[in-house]
Amino acid sequence: MPANCNRDLTLKRWLIAPGPASRELSISLAKVLSADTINVESRIFPDGESKVTIGNNVYGKNVALIQSTYPPTDRHLFQLLLIAHKLNRSGALVCAVVPYLAYARQDQEFLKGEVVSLATIADLLQSTGVKKLITVDIHSERGLRYFQFPSSSISAIPSIGKYLRSHFKVDNAFSVSPDSGGRLRAQMLAETLSVQFDALSKSRDRKIGEISVGAPSKNVEGKDIILVDDIISTGGSICKAAEKLKELGAKHVYAACSHPLLVGEAEMNLKKAGVEEIIGTNTVPSSVSKVDVAPLLAEHLSSM
Ligand code: R5P
Repeated sequence: MPANCNRDLTLKRWLIAPGPASRELSISLAKVLSADTINVESRIFPDGESKVTIGNNVYGKNVALIQSTYPPTDRHLFQLLLIAHKLNRSGALVCAVVPYLAYARQDQEFLKGEVVSLATIADLLQSTGVKKLITVDIHSERGLRYFQFPSSSISAIPSIGKYLRSHFKVDNAFSVSPDSGGRLRAQMLAETLSVQFDALSKSRDRKIGEISVGAPSKNVEGKDIILVDDIISTGGSICKAAEKLKELGAKHVYAACSHPLLVGEAEMNLKKAGVEEIIGTNTVPSSVSKVDVAPLLAEHLSSM
């Protein structure tokens, strides 16, 4: 067992370990914090295994390891575990900063026999010696209960709101969640923009994944809709919602999310469904990552 295991995370001086999935974000974060970065080298062997080398002495240091777990999900996740384990065994006190936390949607046994994937991720992180987890807009806060060490999810929605305010005319806007689970997100965005909000009712066939959405409870005719979600993956949820709102007379439809995974043809499908612009953050680097979460993460890290 490493000698540092009983120390707590009370010092505010951080060293940043840029994980291979989040190098740009790490550099941006280090700048905001005026923190030093350590050298994390990684390579992939022909058989798909990852090799990671830590180039600095981290003994006794507080290290914020930044590694998002967007696709290729399992590779990024495993790299996170490898780096965290090495840092811990080298005597660092490790805070895992995982801007997009994969597997968070499977946070309960929806159908009998399903693995609660998030519980497995929490145990794996614990086994590497991570002392704290910070993520951004976890799918549902109830998922944090699986972590047996301090964990927190900070929201990028107010930062998205600020971006929208400075790039769009928002007087006629209406914030809408494509499902009832995201109601609070839509409300948070609406409060940032001082506009109305609503949540649609979405149902997904848990076996085949097909989605259907209900009508909003408020009149959206002539409104500029900002659909807001934690994740846009295939874009299916937002497409269905956009089509429904257009049918009901919405004037413009935009889509905002914290984690723009945008797999496959998602971007094209969203355009086809009438979404005029997609606004995401850089928890997942993409062509729509317009909002930088570095200041948000920096604020949180420096308050610890
Ligand atoms: C689900 O409840 C999430 O909040 C998102 O709505 C969902 O993961 C988005 O996935 P997709 O873009 O594939 O519909």
